[in-house]
Amino acid sequence: MTLKFVRHHRESNIPTIFGTAPSGAHTEPWTFVVVRDASTKAAIRDIVEEEEELNYSQRMSRQWVADLKPFATRHIKPYLTEAPALLLVFRQTHSMREDGKKKMHYYSEISVAIAAGFILAAIQYCGLVALTSTPLNCNSRIRALLRRPPSERLELLLPVGRPHPEATVPDLHRKPLQDIMVMI
Ligand SMILES: Cc1cc2nc3c(=O)[nH]c(=O)nc-3n(C[C@H](O)[C@H](O)[C@H](O)COP(=O)(O)O)c2cc1C
Repeated sequence: MTLKFVRHHRESNIPTIFGTAPSGAHTEPWTFVVVRDASTKAAIRDIVEEEEELNYSQRMSRQWVADLKPFATRHIKPYLTEAPALLLVFRQTHSMREDGKKKMHYYSEISVAIAAGFILAAIQYCGLVALTSTPLNCNSRIRALLRRPPSERLELLLPVGRPHPEATVPDLHRKPLQDIMVMI
């Protein structure tokens, strides 16, 4: 196989990054839905807040809720209507071949995770910010709202925009290299 490289310029916009990630057997098992419409953002917020209220009060373990305490997360999510865009990453478990047979998407989880990493890096590279969120139990309602097929599953919901001037982030530290890299 001959590999060719083309230069990507910084002014390339984020959508040019969509779909450039590698995928198992080149199945490209992803759909990216960009929501800029205010009423759709509000509908997504309603679903997420309703489900998250149940998640925090009933579905998540007490340990899980305790582990989240330092991040001060809760079921109220104003960023879902304040962010200029919501980027929803769907994973396609399979698609259909032209002959009507089912085409399996091998390694779809890790392929979509790699694609999400590409996008998060691109968002940051463009001087924007995103929150990596995984709204628990929201898949079927948001999928129906956005008219996505049952073969797709919502994996990530990324509000994207510029950081609020009063935004604060926790002062987190990274593990040192010697704790995460093993040289043999
Ligand atoms: C896979 C994944 C799922 C996450 N889900 C949520 C979420 O549902 N809600 C939220 O507010 N933050 C979520 N986060 C954000 C993390 O809490 C955030 O990245 C962390 O607080 C900052 O630490 P880090 O920089 O080491 O990731 C998620 C992050 C990752 C990577």
